[in-house]
Amino acid sequence: MYAIGNDHTGVALKEIIKKYLEDKGETVKDFGTESTTASNYPEIAETVANSVASGECERAILICGTGVGMSIAANKVKGIRAVCCSEPFSAKMSKEHNDANVLCFGARVIGTEMAKMLVDAWYDADFQGGRHQTRVDMMMDIEKRQ
Ligand code: RB5
Repeated sequence: MYAIGNDHTGVALKEIIKKYLEDKGETVKDFGTESTTASNYPEIAETVANSVASGECERAILICGTGVGMSIAANKVKGIRAVCCSEPFSAKMSKEHNDANVLCFGARVIGTEMAKMLVDAWYDADFQGGRHQTRVDMMMDIEKRQ
């Protein structure tokens, strides 16, 4: 199951991406918001990231104005490797090399078709393991030392 969440800037894009994932056959748990009234991205990021960290959801997509706030906040949750992307190469590599479990992007930065390309690139990629697993383990060790 995928988790999805957004602040007030990402309501319309969230609906499009949610349907896009469902059309791929995925079950999507929508953590909101449905409102275009100003909301606080850290609250949504924490809830969505917790759903991934706990294992309830496999991966997540977070949308705010830039994707930056969502990614910073999500990365505060232990076990989360969130990335903020605006082009598909980084989205693909973030799965293949970094095993990113949360993809963030900005509704004020990219258009609908680019967002779908990012989702495709990330969704279709597989973590390559090997030397990349060693490096992911090193990243997670940083977390343990905090
Ligand atoms: C909201 O104005 C904006 O700050 C938020 O959507 C996001 O871009 C933060 O990183």
